Amino acid sequence: MPGTFFSLENQVAVVTGGGQGIGEGIARRLHAAGARVAVLDLRPDTARAVANSIDGVGLECDVSSPSSVSRAIERVHERLGPIDILVNNAGIAGRTAPLWQLEESDLDQVYAVNLKGVFLTCRAVIGEMLDRGYGRIVNVASIAGKEGNPTLIPYSSTKAAVICLTKALAKEVAGRGDITVNGISPAVVQTKILETMAPETVSYMVSKIPMGRTGRIEEIAALVHFLVSRECSFTTGQCYDISGGRATY
Ligand SMILES: NC(=O)c1ccc[n+]([C@@H]2O[C@H](COP(=O)([O-])OP(=O)(O)OC[C@H]3O[C@@H](n4cnc5c(N)ncnc54)[C@H](O)[C@@H]3O)[C@@H](O)[C@H]2O)c1
Repeated sequence: MPGTFFSLENQVAVVTGGGQGIGEGIARRLHAAGARVAVLDLRPDTARAVANSIDGVGLECDVSSPSSVSRAIERVHERLGPIDILVNNAGIAGRTAPLWQLEESDLDQVYAVNLKGVFLTCRAVIGEMLDRGYGRIVNVASIAGKEGNPTLIPYSSTKAAVICLTKALAKEVAGRGDITVNGISPAVVQTKILETMAPETVSYMVSKIPMGRTGRIEEIAALVHFLVSRECSFTTGQCYDISGGRATY
């Protein structure tokens, strides 16, 4: 796609959780648009496999660990240069059960990856974006963060927090160069994350989608591509629904 609309030529993109699923789809799409992509994932094997297939850089990174995040971002600088685009996609569902059956540790684990992870990676790149006066950040939230899915309280509440982090950070940097921070809230997409949830929880979520089908990875990647493009410069602090009509606000 280089040379066409929404070209990402000469840009460096970081995609967290890019070793499989939606993150992999996003990494492939951004590469197809001309970006040089760093694929960060808890699993170094999948990160490298995806990166190798798109001429990118695959790095092990646990987004919930400050030292792991700063090490990975340092490597990206060494290998690819300054970062133009950050896509915070890494996330986990956690245990699916009603609140009264959850342990504190169930909440802590999901919070560490889904919210603290986004905080840490944004903090690791925002300084250079401010210095260079350019940046695009997209955070992958979820329709669960708007609607609150039963049996998914840690997941839903951390995704709601990601939406608010997105809005607040967008305002902090607005007017300080061409930097935008947006989010997306997908409904169900067929990936391995669904295998970690109770089947009743998945059926509940699918039944709520007016289009009567699940989303496709390519559909999510296309929206993210638009949001990280240079052309998308007057939109910030928004959370885009990609939910087959489920979201009503
Ligand atoms: N699939 C859906 O239905 C759906 C719907 C809405 C939102 N989402 C969100 O989309 C994102 C991607 O989900 P997916 O469906 O592709 O899931 P997935 O489980 O297929 O992929 C998640 C990736 O994140 C990585 N990861 C997990 N913990 C990590 C950590 N601490 N540090 C770095 N990487 C880590 C995993 O290794 C994996 O490669 C998640 O944030 C998820 O919450 C998914």
